[in-house]
Amino acid sequence: MAAETDRWDGRLDAARARLEERGIDEADSRLRWLAAHLLSCGLLDVGRHREEPLAPDLARAWEDGVARLAAGEPVQYVIGETDFLGLRIRCDRRALIPRPETEELALCAEADLRARPGRPVAVDAGTGTGCIACALALRAPRARIIATDLSADALGLARENAEALGARVDFIRTDLLAGLPDASADLVVSNPPYVSSGDCDRLPAHVRDHEPRLALDGGPDGLRVISRLVSEAARVIVPSGRLMMEIGDDQAEAVREILCPENLFNLEALKCDCAGRVRLAVARRVPAWLRAPTCPGAGRGPTAI
Ligand SMILES: C[S@@+](CC[C@H](N)C(=O)[O-])C[C@H]1O[C@@H](n2cnc3c(N)ncnc32)[C@H](O)[C@@H]1O
Repeated sequence: MAAETDRWDGRLDAARARLEERGIDEADSRLRWLAAHLLSCGLLDVGRHREEPLAPDLARAWEDGVARLAAGEPVQYVIGETDFLGLRIRCDRRALIPRPETEELALCAEADLRARPGRPVAVDAGTGTGCIACALALRAPRARIIATDLSADALGLARENAEALGARVDFIRTDLLAGLPDASADLVVSNPPYVSSGDCDRLPAHVRDHEPRLALDGGPDGLRVISRLVSEAARVIVPSGRLMMEIGDDQAEAVREILCPENLFNLEALKCDCAGRVRLAVARRVPAWLRAPTCPGAGRGPTAI
């Protein structure tokens, strides 16, 4: 029988102690995730392998992975993938790790596209890994999906994901929606950078030190990219098309104020995540002939759902 240090249980216990010593939180779940990846099994099945020995190549991969986790790297970068709406999305330092709350944004966008006739056009602004764009291309196949990003690195990764998943997406390197024709999109969907620059410095180390700053930093008040996106989207979205954005949990009122000037958008819904925090704004482009001269005041309009 293999000595305990050559078995999964011994390796797991030693690695947990190492990570805890380095102050890494949720050490157990990170290690379980790494083990499941190396064993090609589900998270709940890792326990069944505890008494098995590790083959030498697996032992090397395990020790490499544990060293990266101990250095604070997010587990998704260490294993090189994450799940997004059931899709295996490649992940590395080139782009933000897709978050579960962003799945809700993608599902809202999918529902919007499915309800439109013909071949609707959607733009995913700031595509990162391409998770939203790929999910839409696969789940709403009638639609044409365009994805933009300022980062050439992120676009490289997004292209790899689209190719691996067989998702048809047109990628464009540009600043938000720059270069897209006026009134050319039925839907603009975006998870823009919305963390204030000050808060970026206070993010957990595994985010702050490893994920791209360009993906997180929304300027001094966190709203710089959102504001630019809204005015660009007003140009690009067809009358009665929609803009859907993920926003920070304290930004609902500010986003309402940004959407309303000149009555360009009608804020239809603010949606909450499972913790009850407002994280998603859905707005409809107001056709010119319907535009009122003034903006409805803050505190009126849709309620969070
Ligand atoms: C919060 S990440 C979202 C990534 C991905 N859509 C997701 O939900 O996981 C924001 C993305 O916007 C990109 N970005 C930041 N500023 C941009 C700009 N001015 N124009 C285009 N993309 C931008 C970043 O490179 C990053 O990939």
